[in-house]
Amino acid sequence: MFIRRGKSLYAEGVAVSTLAENLGTPLYVYSESQLLKNYRAYETGFARLPHLVCFALKANSNLAVARTFAREGAGADIVSGGELYRALLAGFSPAKIVFSGVGKTREEMKFALNKGIYCFNVESVEELQALNQTAGNLKKKAPVALRVNPDVQADTHHHITTGTKENKFGIPKSQILDAYETARKLKNINLIGIQAHIGSQITSVAPFERFLNVMLDLVDQLSARGIYLDHLDMGGGLGITYHKETPPTPADLARAFEPRLKGRALKLLFEPGRFLVGNAGILVTQVLYRKRTGHKTFVVVDAGMNDLARPALYDAYHEIVPVSKNGSVRETVDVVGPVCESGDYFAKARHMPYPEQGDYLAIQSAGAYGFAMSSQYNSRPRAAEVMVSGKAWRVVRKRESLEDLIRGEK
Ligand code: LLP
Repeated sequence: MFIRRGKSLYAEGVAVSTLAENLGTPLYVYSESQLLKNYRAYETGFARLPHLVCFALKANSNLAVARTFAREGAGADIVSGGELYRALLAGFSPAKIVFSGVGKTREEMKFALNKGIYCFNVESVEELQALNQTAGNLKKKAPVALRVNPDVQADTHHHITTGTKENKFGIPKSQILDAYETARKLKNINLIGIQAHIGSQITSVAPFERFLNVMLDLVDQLSARGIYLDHLDMGGGLGITYHKETPPTPADLARAFEPRLKGRALKLLFEPGRFLVGNAGILVTQVLYRKRTGHKTFVVVDAGMNDLARPALYDAYHEIVPVSKNGSVRETVDVVGPVCESGDYFAKARHMPYPEQGDYLAIQSAGAYGFAMSSQYNSRPRAAEVMVSGKAWRVVRKRESLEDLIRGEK
């Protein structure tokens, strides 16, 4: 939905330069149609299997983005009381909310129990006991899936791998049956599922197939012990194209899953974040200065690592394109931000059209873990966010002010 018409980059029916001129930069721009397209790809891909797609709010917790999915009937995957608060405001039904995370507090458990969420993804036996007590105090039963660490390699960046024995997530496969036995004896726990998440930005089907095999094997071992589950939650992780990756589609996954799930009454849950929002957002920034040092050419832009941390944190690749194509001279440059850190860059040794001072650049595939991970580091007010729908646009988060920077301080 971000397409070039002539020289100009458009977000659906709106010229990105118009948005930048009206709203300033740095600016996150989202395409509503792309959000819907991504969500519907999951829905149609898995149409033949009973399923629920729970949007992982951590990828982009803007209320308008979340509401777009809520209106479609999606569920939500949350990891904090804050995300529960947002999910409810965005209009998700509590009956479709799953709560993940290794460190839920009793306060957060209470909040979620009182709202009647669909399921807690519990990651340790101690957490299970805390949840059992908290539910008992409220005279409620907590619906639970245990998160297993399946020890499956996700073939992705080590910072975003979560399902191997090196990671803090879940209960080791070797202990999971015992954990279910413990859980079934707890009075205020209602076992309804099993969950895992093996990592993020996965660009082939194979890790998901290995993962499904492990999970189905566990489901069978549990039913042999008389523990019958309603659902199997396969987490998130489906990758997107940042550079040259060709990730599978949800339909590709579904085709691999279908034969293995035939004849089972299990409902499938998914917790996609990146796939739903990643390519539906860009970060627009303006070129402040250029400088040639003799050794390198730097393009200094007005967005920084505080706005988009992925390159600094993971050495992540994001395509950078001119918003308006002017000159055709290409050069090898480093695109850097204004933050006082050497890690504050968006591209290194990138061969790209050499921009003029004042030009707008679009950093692509920035809709996931972009604004959501942004900060005010260097006392930089956070960027504005705008949602485009056809020819219409609306600011869905206004740019922060200097007063916002000091809110709550004395
Ligand atoms: N479910 C659980 C339990 C998760 O931990 C995550 C992501 C998801 C679902 C959603 O995963 P996705 O579909 O987006 O891959 N900040 C990193 C990614 C961290 C992912 C954390 N967990 C990045 O920018 O690449």
